[in-house]
Amino acid sequence: MAFTKRLTLFLPVFWTVASGSENVQLPLATSAPSSASDPIPNNFQSFSIELAFWADYAGNHSCPNTFSNRLFVNLREFNGGVPQILRIGGNTQDHTTYIPDQKEGIINNWDYTYNLDQPRNSTIGPVFWESYNVITGTQYIPGLNFYKNDSDYLRNLQGEAQESLKYIPAERLHLLEIGNENDYGARSGFRPVNWTQEDYVEEWISRSRNIQTASKSLRFFAPSFCCFNITTDYSFFSPWTVWNSTFGYNRDGWIEEVSQHGYISSTNNNPTLQGTLMNHTNLINSAKPHVELNIFHRQNGRKYTVGETNSISGQGSHGVSDVFGSALWLVDYCLYLAAQSVTRIHLHQGTSYRYAAWLPIVVNGTGPLVKPPYYGHIFVAKFLGSSNTTQINNVDLGSDYYSAYAAYEAGNLSRVAILNLLTWDPPNSTDTSSSIDATIDRPKTTFNLGVSQGYRSATVELMTAPGATFDTNITVAGISYDYDLAEGRGVRVGKDIVATLQPGKDGSFSVDVEASQAVVVTFHR
Ligand SMILES: *[C@@H]1O[C@H](CO)[C@@H](O)[C@H](O)[C@H]1NC(C)=O
Ligand SMILES: *[C@@H]1O[C@H](CO)[C@@H](O)[C@H](O)[C@H]1NC(C)=O
Ligand SMILES: *[C@@H]1O[C@H](CO)[C@@H](O)[C@H](O)[C@H]1NC(C)=O
Ligand SMILES: *[C@@H]1O[C@H](CO)[C@@H](O)[C@H](O)[C@H]1NC(C)=O
Ligand SMILES: *[C@@H]1O[C@H](CO)[C@@H](O)[C@H](O)[C@H]1NC(C)=O
Ligand SMILES: *[C@@H]1O[C@H](CO)[C@@H](O)[C@H](O)[C@H]1NC(C)=O
Ligand SMILES: *[C@@H]1O[C@H](CO)[C@@H](O)[C@H](O)[C@H]1NC(C)=O
Ligand SMILES: *[C@@H]1O[C@H](CO)[C@@H](O)[C@H](O)[C@H]1NC(C)=O
Ligand SMILES: *[C@@H]1O[C@H](CO)[C@@H](O)[C@H](O)[C@H]1NC(C)=O
Ligand SMILES: *[C@@H]1O[C@H](CO)[C@@H](O)[C@H](O)[C@H]1NC(C)=O
Ligand SMILES: *[C@@H]1O[C@H](CO)[C@@H](O)[C@H](O)[C@H]1NC(C)=O
Ligand SMILES: *[C@@H]1O[C@H](CO)[C@@H](O)[C@H](O)[C@H]1NC(C)=O
Repeated sequence: MAFTKRLTLFLPVFWTVASGSENVQLPLATSAPSSASDPIPNNFQSFSIELAFWADYAGNHSCPNTFSNRLFVNLREFNGGVPQILRIGGNTQDHTTYIPDQKEGIINNWDYTYNLDQPRNSTIGPVFWESYNVITGTQYIPGLNFYKNDSDYLRNLQGEAQESLKYIPAERLHLLEIGNENDYGARSGFRPVNWTQEDYVEEWISRSRNIQTASKSLRFFAPSFCCFNITTDYSFFSPWTVWNSTFGYNRDGWIEEVSQHGYISSTNNNPTLQGTLMNHTNLINSAKPHVELNIFHRQNGRKYTVGETNSISGQGSHGVSDVFGSALWLVDYCLYLAAQSVTRIHLHQGTSYRYAAWLPIVVNGTGPLVKPPYYGHIFVAKFLGSSNTTQINNVDLGSDYYSAYAAYEAGNLSRVAILNLLTWDPPNSTDTSSSIDATIDRPKTTFNLGVSQGYRSATVELMTAPGATFDTNITVAGISYDYDLAEGRGVRVGKDIVATLQPGKDGSFSVDVEASQAVVVTFHR
């Protein structure tokens, strides 16, 4: 067992050394090149929270979840205090019934033969909406039930919409969403097999008109499709063709932002850390439809968002989505989509989901916990910064293992993020009874930054952990957010700046990045 692990972990290292690629040239333009993104909106890095678990994340008036609140506040300390947008939805939004006289905020009805991670259905009462007010400083996209199609469906939908308008202050209500991943409706049995995307459009229009206010004030987030092209014997659903002009999907002009979902892989595909997540080539391949859809919608004057996303669909994979390597992936993914000028992304969360950035409550005696992906969020927030002029340029290194992004402020090079995605773990890292063997060096790669002139020095901040498969002892710029230290407040446990770089004679800098680490290099004039 241990022997097998060692082999898989160390093979790539030998490959790197043998091929002599430990020195990498990283070309950088000092002013924003034409390939750089548009200025990144400060709410770019947003979240999606599974509706059935919204009360776990936020709490309610009598029991607010101050831990979750702190984690959102931490991120806003980097982005200039701009509200993140929380989309409250997912699969469970289409299995939720609003019961006006229910005393409890939410009752989740579990059926473990149906799903271990999500209730089969849920009922919500007015207290459910308290959650929207106990978290401070965020804006919302409440998800409403589309699938319900019995005689009660309209009362249910109108009730959900009216309670959202009643309890969520107008300035905090960003948009509404009707339905989750309904392109899968015929496949999942919630609509007849011959249900077409034109039928979907007509149903969506009818539902939106039935909840629209007299002053026509509501705007929507849509279509929130899961997939790219679903072909069945009877129908074809695609986030491209649903916009066919003959369908008139946005005939009322109320769809304000396009939402599309997407994951890098699925639990069915046996994902691995190195092959699936810590693999820049795989990331580019997986993100390709988003890049194409973003171009398509921008050409048509529409804002494109990735409205629900994360690493591995099916709530994530143990040992892949819930370890430090997933934080490195998250940085690579967010910065790649930022570099493509995608308007916003919403990383999906659920209480016991493997890919969740935190566990907001105690489950089976475990928690609350800050989980590895949260550190990726911190790194991204720090790198995007508080300026509203930040542009990101993807510096293509043509490698599975190395990835780099330059950040420009007011058109000038400010900093660069470099990821070394080679998986590394100390020997015996999973054997908690033994101490770590510090005599084995972590392999490193030297990046030569082609900065020509004008910068006096550069400082280096580090995101690291003892190894790629660790879920503890993670830091960004020497800060730990672990729940056990200060319930999610940042606590300094290491150096903020790990190195100060001086330029060579030609004005260029070089920086070492160890395997399974990421750095932010900030340039100083
Ligand atoms: C408020 O939240 C607490 C903690 O999750 C929960 O125990 C309680 O039932 C909730 N109150 C209502 C009315 O749902
Ligand atoms: C809701 O879930 C419960 C528990 O699995 C199940 O007994 C019930 O039939 C479900 N109700 C509906 C309407 O699907
Ligand atoms: C209504 O939903 C059920 C499943 O919940 C589905 O079997 C049925 O085909 C749907 N009917 C229509 C008209 O969409
Ligand atoms: C779709 O199938 C239903 C039966 O499930 C049938 O009543 C209906 O006519 C079909 N619609 C079309 C357009 O074929
Ligand atoms: C999906 O279909 C559309 C329209 O037929 C096509 O343009 C697009 O390339 C396809 N994308 C994927 C990811 O299959
Ligand atoms: C749009 O829909 C019409 C049918 O209404 C169909 O004939 C046409 O091929 C579709 N166009 C595209 C680009 O899918
Ligand atoms: C990275 O992903 C690409 C595309 O999926 C694949 O061809 C390649 O083998 C992967 N690299 C590693 C190191 O697993
Ligand atoms: C909680 O513990 C019970 C009993 O040991 C187990 O069946 C269940 O799967 C656990 N749930 C989670 C989310 O770990
Ligand atoms: C950017 O921020 C400046 C002040 O910091 C403000 O004057 C300007 O309006 C902002 N621009 C945008 C597009 O938000
Ligand atoms: C951008 O760089 C130029 C020199 O290339 C400098 O004159 C200018 O002040 C810089 N702007 C900012 C906002 O740093
Ligand atoms: C784990 O550590 C033990 C001693 O602490 C050592 O004998 C063993 O070889 C180590 N295993 C691996 C895979 O490094
Ligand atoms: C993790 O941190 C704890 C507390 O600071 C420390 O005792 C432990 O040695 C660390 N483990 C590793 C593998 O660095």
